[in-house]
Amino acid sequence: MEENTNQKDSIITRRSLLLNAGKVAVGTALVTSGCLSASSPTQAKKETEYPWPYEQIDPDRAAEIAYQNWYGNYCAYASASGILVQLKEKVGYPYTVLPVDIIRFAHGGVVGWGTLCGTMAGAGIAASLAAGHDGDEMINDLLAYYANTELPIYMPKEPKLAKAPLKNKSDSPLCHISVGKWMKKTGHAFKSPERKDRCARLAGDVSKQMAMMLNAYYKGEYEAQHYGHIGTYNMTAQDNCTSCHTSNVPSPPQMKM
Ligand code: HEC
Repeated sequence: MEENTNQKDSIITRRSLLLNAGKVAVGTALVTSGCLSASSPTQAKKETEYPWPYEQIDPDRAAEIAYQNWYGNYCAYASASGILVQLKEKVGYPYTVLPVDIIRFAHGGVVGWGTLCGTMAGAGIAASLAAGHDGDEMINDLLAYYANTELPIYMPKEPKLAKAPLKNKSDSPLCHISVGKWMKKTGHAFKSPERKDRCARLAGDVSKQMAMMLNAYYKGEYEAQHYGHIGTYNMTAQDNCTSCHTSNVPSPPQMKM
């Protein structure tokens, strides 16, 4: 099931990239030789092989870009942009033809539904582009980091609010739980400037964390820290079962041999 979805995604991505690459190549061809034949689909496909090229980026800059971009475009766009803006500058094409807006919809745990915190959807898109399916391990580690760390840590160079927000550990990658626990601890409402700045700084932390993992991966120094969940629980799950099921954690049905 999961594999099918992945496959479908990558086909769609490749197809739209191909279309974009075609457009770019046509533009160049007109300028350089006035000849349209230079933009053959084969050539365009070769140029957009997956995953995309990578160059070492600055993790602190990723955090600052993410923080600033939270204001205006929210969490998912923010954390993705921390990485992708730098890759647009350093690698150029194909990052230059990718609108970071494709991931904006994941704000508020997907348009406000409070599911996966958008920062990890954003960083996940960046990791998938830059590291392909190997990105899964880094995204897994990112969710563990997010759930198990007192956040936000990042201190912006140009903060919108001078006072650093209180930190909290979410024990969950879910936007609803993460934001809810933080609001309960601090007494700040959802629309308060403090809650906004907390999420903006947190987007900085997440983008920075993924930037560090991608840098390490491309230096051959990345080692996965966290385990995969499906093998452990025989279903998709978080490992803090009792936070929702309190004491009676149900067991999923096992395979019949
Ligand atoms: C974020 C909250 C949350 C966490 C964490 C969580 N679950 Fe669930 N789980 C649910 C909800 C909600 C349902 C649906 C329950 C229902 O409607 O009866 C569910 C359903 C299930 C079911 C389907 C059978 C049933 O009785 O509903 C199983 C099995 C299950 N969970 C096991 C686990 C295990 C094992 C863990 C830890 C590894 C876990 N869950 C962690 C919220 C959670």
